[in-house]
Amino acid sequence: MSQIVTLERRGDIEIITIDNPPVNVFSHAVRAALMDAFDEADASDSRAIVLRCAGRTYVAGADITEFGKPPQEPLLPDLLNRIENCSKPVIAALHGTALGGGLESAIASHYRIAVPDARLGFPEVLLGLLPGAGGTQRVPRLMGVEVALDFILAGKPISADAALASGLIDRIAAGNLLEAALAYAQELADNGAVPRCSSKLPIDLDSVAENFFEQKRAAVARKTRGVPAPQRIIDCVEAATKLDFRQGSAFEREKFVELMNSPESAGLRHVFFAERQASKIEGIARNTPLRPVNSVGIIGAGTMGGGIAMNFANAGIAVTLLELNTEALDRGIGICRKNYQRSAAKGRFTPEQVEHFMGLISGTTSYEDLTDVDLVIEAVFEDPQIKYEVFRKLDAVCKPGAILASNTSYQDIDAIAAVTSRAQDVLGMHFFSPANVMKLLEVVRGEKTADDVLATVMKLAKKIRKVAVLSRVGYGFIGNRMLGGYFREAQMLLLEGATPSQVDGAMQSFGMAMGPLAVGDLAGLDIGYKARQALPDRPDHPATHVADQLVEMGRLGQKTGAGYYRYDAETRKRLVDPEVEALIRAEAGRLAIEPRTFSDEEIVARVIYPLINEGARVLEEGIAQRASDIDIVYIYGYGFPAHRGGPMFYADTVGAKAVYDRICEFRDTLRADDWQPAPLLEKLAADNGRFNS
Ligand code: 3HC
Ligand code: NAI
Repeated sequence: MSQIVTLERRGDIEIITIDNPPVNVFSHAVRAALMDAFDEADASDSRAIVLRCAGRTYVAGADITEFGKPPQEPLLPDLLNRIENCSKPVIAALHGTALGGGLESAIASHYRIAVPDARLGFPEVLLGLLPGAGGTQRVPRLMGVEVALDFILAGKPISADAALASGLIDRIAAGNLLEAALAYAQELADNGAVPRCSSKLPIDLDSVAENFFEQKRAAVARKTRGVPAPQRIIDCVEAATKLDFRQGSAFEREKFVELMNSPESAGLRHVFFAERQASKIEGIARNTPLRPVNSVGIIGAGTMGGGIAMNFANAGIAVTLLELNTEALDRGIGICRKNYQRSAAKGRFTPEQVEHFMGLISGTTSYEDLTDVDLVIEAVFEDPQIKYEVFRKLDAVCKPGAILASNTSYQDIDAIAAVTSRAQDVLGMHFFSPANVMKLLEVVRGEKTADDVLATVMKLAKKIRKVAVLSRVGYGFIGNRMLGGYFREAQMLLLEGATPSQVDGAMQSFGMAMGPLAVGDLAGLDIGYKARQALPDRPDHPATHVADQLVEMGRLGQKTGAGYYRYDAETRKRLVDPEVEALIRAEAGRLAIEPRTFSDEEIVARVIYPLINEGARVLEEGIAQRASDIDIVYIYGYGFPAHRGGPMFYADTVGAKAVYDRICEFRDTLRADDWQPAPLLEKLAADNGRFNS
């Protein structure tokens, strides 16, 4: 028998062990070997079978790399039915994360035991899928229909305790899992226990409220725009209440295959692998020795500094915030406390946790308190001279080997590194606002940044629950650089006849968390205005005219109650403002632009294609390592819909040639300077190529 699955006899009990590192997924080889192992174990004179995994976790699910390829037998549902049909009790022993198909194999087993820190869940919905190996049919029989449906829809794992309480598992193992599972198996055998098949349990229909499924469908539709998986999950669980197990399983299979072939699942699966790929740096070995990071200093306790500090405190790392004076320090630390308290009020943290986190955050106004920290992140005003001054001071006081990072949005990391005597220790760590919430971290590699510094920060990002993407130095790095054309075209569409709510509505229907004009109002229109005013040779582009006028009228966005929209003082609800529409039409008249109507499709192309075009340049110039990194930046930093896979994956979906041709059309009919196609896009269009191979 292959080493990937082993069969071992211990007294009356057969032990089947899956050993398929790193997370024991049900690859084709595992499925085939398990089929043989169960045939052999079932045929032997043993009295029970324990199913377990070696390594760090029980099976974390089906092998996602096999999805979208021709299916290879044995299929997972058939294997799990084989397990359930064993003539003697099968006991699944769970540790780590029993997820997706892994959890389905546990519930196809007859009894379940788990270590106290095991986590059990169905993350399929996050991949645009549903549990496709009997999960939607067996779980309602074990947990009850309503609880099961919420569990599958949530996609979040639950603890062993919660699993025990809800009937998903039978026991929690005290001590060694294998020994506990063997003892449980022996006990079952000695008591004459028979196989207990989840598929044969009756469904408790009495506890299902009237109209339960209809109400669920409506509630879920409001929350999950554009993704079909949640609705199909409801269909499958409802099927479990109406059909027998065999028919219900066939229905589930049909829906699973339908979702597997959907573009939404393809996008979400791309994101799963892209996220993991992003943490890898080409040319730097995975086993590069890392620098220890047990303490962090942060310069500037403003909007960003405070949020950044919270990330480290949440991960148990002590932080020292340094400010210009005690008032600024108290204000910054006070905001951290308020944020924690708000989370505690929502039940996310206990009051004790809040105190624990706050205990890890201290303040100072003296650089002497940073002599021993392992990492410093500068988050002072976006002024290069102030940043140079800070880095000179850090160079003077920090211990050798300390990592020195800047959170700058636009400054040149190499110029910052050059004011120190240790450019190898300097890099950018660009967090996104609010820094304690947004998952993206752009890690900016300077010309001289040492490999171990980069490797350390990529690893650290995971510890503070960020998704890190590597960028080279360049204006706006990856994400902010690409925004220029996106906002420009949103503004031009207004002058050409679309309204703010039409542009934002089209982008929200596409799946963006917010439309570009609403984002402007949220961030504050004065930020872009000031940046434009500061440019030495400020180019005059019609796209800025409306925004400039709004700022000059005191309409800075949400903070002044009005920007592109008016905001209700009480509810903050966005309201259409005829005054803005009149202003736009007056400006368009002045520029002699004839208004016309737009379809949502045209709005999306006008706004998204500049992202793709600039993304192609970012790739060509080597600012980003790979197209999928750009996708991750946009999904985790800018609210791009994950089910579309990110802008570059979306371009692949539309086809490089179609995108290129449309950009050429815009170049020829709109503004040639703004719409020059990137050479890489042109090449992919000619070769029928893809950004993501
Ligand atoms: N298929 C293929 N590869 C997988 C995988 C899967 N289900 N799960 C993880 N991997 C790979 C990762 O891509 C990564 O590969 P790499 O080292 O080459 O980058 C490696 O395993 C380790 O993964 P992580 O870096 O994510 O390791 P962590 O320790 O941080 O997390 C985990 C472990 C919690 C198990 C996490 O990997 C995870 O959530 N995996 C996905 C689980 C999942 O979605 N399961 C459901 C699959 S769909 C299904 O089962 C359908 C069924 O109902 C029919
Ligand atoms: P902010 O103005 O809210 O905070 C800056 C803080 O730095 C202030 O509290 C100020 O007192 C302090 N400070 C200024 N000079 C200092 C010095 N010499 N020593 C110690 N403290 C000093 O600014 P914000 O928004 O937090 O931005 C900080 C940096 O983060 C900037 O470089 C900005 O570009 C960048 N950034 C900002 C984002 C945002 O959305 N606000 C997003 C990502 C990066």
